[in-house]
Amino acid sequence: MNDIAPLRLAIVGLGTVGGGVIRLLEENGALVARRAGRAIEVVAISARDRGKDRGVDLSHYEWVDDMASLPSRADIDVVVELIGGADGPALTLARQCLTLGKPFVTANKAMIAHHGLDLAHQAEKSGVALKYEAAVAGGIPVIKGLREGAAANRIKRVYGILNGTCNYILSTMEREGKAFSDVLADAQRLGYAEADPTFDIDGIDAAHKLSILSSLSFGTEIDFPSVDITGIRHVLAADIREAAALGFKVRLVALAECEAEGGRNIGLFQRVHPMLVPVDHPLAHVDGALNAVVAEGNFVGRLFFQGAGAGEGPTASAVVADIIDVARDEYGPAFAMPAEWLQRQVKADAGQRTGRAYMRFRVKDRPGVLAEITAAMRDANVSIESVIQRAAVEDEGALVALVTHQGALACIDDVLRRLGGSDSLVDTPMVMHILD
Ligand code: NAP
Ligand code: HSE
Repeated sequence: MNDIAPLRLAIVGLGTVGGGVIRLLEENGALVARRAGRAIEVVAISARDRGKDRGVDLSHYEWVDDMASLPSRADIDVVVELIGGADGPALTLARQCLTLGKPFVTANKAMIAHHGLDLAHQAEKSGVALKYEAAVAGGIPVIKGLREGAAANRIKRVYGILNGTCNYILSTMEREGKAFSDVLADAQRLGYAEADPTFDIDGIDAAHKLSILSSLSFGTEIDFPSVDITGIRHVLAADIREAAALGFKVRLVALAECEAEGGRNIGLFQRVHPMLVPVDHPLAHVDGALNAVVAEGNFVGRLFFQGAGAGEGPTASAVVADIIDVARDEYGPAFAMPAEWLQRQVKADAGQRTGRAYMRFRVKDRPGVLAEITAAMRDANVSIESVIQRAAVEDEGALVALVTHQGALACIDDVLRRLGGSDSLVDTPMVMHILD
């Protein structure tokens, strides 16, 4: 191994993930080198603030202020981007590297979701690696799993829990009965949240990841704009309590399906929203910052991937796995097939979907309110499976939580339309579909 030249890295971005990568390479360097077939050497590092204490000694690495100088340096074999952001410096760096033929490793799901297709074209044109394992589900090797392990399958559906911050918040609310705003700060302190945590709690981060998984699963072009997105901002501790009473847990679920006809894809459905998951479903047991991904292949059957979805160690593990692949010269097209063969899909019509739903209303505690809700449901042709009513708490009103029978989900929207503007409602009703 000694006569094989080391793989020389530039690491740009030294926050939670960048710091983790440095620590991992320092601690596991000898083992990583044996697995990679050559030493992995950090040659240059860069971030915004040179003076920041990062809890790790960086004095023996060359600090570079101008990251634009890195792609053309002959003494750097791979650039590892751990800054974040769909555009800006991360994208500029990616384009420079791939155009100049420099292998590029990133954890940046926002950039891949928005620009992955263009970057993949460029990587293929230059014949270099574009690797992004850490961009989806943190430490879980799900990109590799779908891109390589399940590559022989037609995948009809891929779904799961893709945001560690939201899962940490929801499962902590469930355990401790706290409001979501009280738990968010903990998730930030633990290094799970994005620089702008609204990306997490509003479901955008999970949607970035889902659009990447869809492309890998279905052989389609990444289509982030067509993901329907609802975050967890309006989930109350009371929803989690009532869901538990009804036999469910609340999880932010990302789900994609590609409808096919005669072996041809005809529509892409992608949605991220909080769902009620039956307590006996495997996703109900995914707690804290764990993530899980289920992919249903026509030959392999159901695959279930689970592991740490965020945080320094797990994400660094995924980044270094990509670096090892580059060191071994093991890489192929970024989205499992040449970018020009990925199919463009129309957005599937969600109006045809059926299922059960949870509906929660906070209402004025007065005669006739329950009748008003049930009349709207009758008129919208929605049948009720179970219902709970709780007495009024201060000015929050009485709470009515119900689960519908299986039916057209478009009818649920009709219920909301019929109740819209009713002065019996204290606030906007909450609807969560049920993962059956
Ligand atoms: P972070 O802790 O906020 O670190 C970001 C780093 O980028 C910092 O070192 C920062 O420099 C540097 N940076 C920001 N803007 C810069 C600029 N304009 N020029 C140069 N450097 C700049 O973020 P992170 O959590 O490590 O996330 C990094 C990437 O990994 C993101 O794409 C994120 O989505 C992804 N990711 C994160 C996780 C996770 O659990 N945290 C998991 C999977 C993927 P300073 O330190 O000097 O301010
Ligand atoms: N903010 C992301 C999350 C980091 O919470 O899942 C991992 O991608």
